[in-house]
Amino acid sequence: MADPTRIVVTDDGPALVTGPVEVELPDGSRVRSDRAVTAVCLCRRSRRYPICDASHRRKARQEGTDA
Ligand code: FES
Repeated sequence: MADPTRIVVTDDGPALVTGPVEVELPDGSRVRSDRAVTAVCLCRRSRRYPICDASHRRKARQEGTDA
């Protein structure tokens, strides 16, 4: 029996998925990643959605600014 796919959901960022993945979007389009670990965007702010581009970090910094 194969090991289960590991998905690590982070507190304020992406879901880290181990192994090659194919993400299917609501419109039926598919995005494939052959990386050892793929960061799947959960915040929907990534310009490379559904792959995380760290845009979730910029949002956090802006919210933490008083100015
Ligand atoms: S989770 Fe990183 S850009 Fe959305």
